[in-house]
Amino acid sequence: MSFPELISREKIHSRVQELAKEIERDFAGEEIIVVGVLKGSFIFCADLIREINLPITLDFISVSSYEGTESTGELKINLDIKSKIEGKNVILVEDIIDTGLTISSLITRFKKNNPKSLKVASLLYKPARIQHKVDIDYLAFEIEDHFVIGYGLDFNGSYRELPYVGIYNGEV
Ligand code: IMP
Repeated sequence: MSFPELISREKIHSRVQELAKEIERDFAGEEIIVVGVLKGSFIFCADLIREINLPITLDFISVSSYEGTESTGELKINLDIKSKIEGKNVILVEDIIDTGLTISSLITRFKKNNPKSLKVASLLYKPARIQHKVDIDYLAFEIEDHFVIGYGLDFNGSYRELPYVGIYNGEV
């Protein structure tokens, strides 16, 4: 199955490099804990950290709030981080900020543990659908209201392996 390409692998690659340089500048001389929000951010996270020339600890958190193409409005933690984040610089890495529920719930949860700093990086942002306003510190691309797949993003578990971001135009 092939999908209309929204963002090419080349564009993604160069934007990821730019974000990595911004992060490097912002955290020069510091250590960071990068927390990937599974599963969608795993490719973005892997590419991003390889471009950041700083001491990094990587961790993951897995949450679910989606069924098919719709948010259920509730956040369930399936797997929590192992790192102690108190007094540390933390960057939460998301694949996409859609309603904003996932990231805003995670920010609230993480802040309770008093990190030194807490930043948000996201590959994609769909402003048309936002319900929970969040500041995205490092955003790769703002997109129109499409359901997208590829570069880590799925539709019901499929298409994460596509090297580009495509528009899902199949049956829901
Ligand atoms: P939010 O909580 O509504 O912001 O949704 C965030 C999560 O929903 C993301 O981490 C994705 O896993 C999923 N999601 C939202 N929109 C899309 C999409 O267009 N394609 C694939 N997954 C999506």
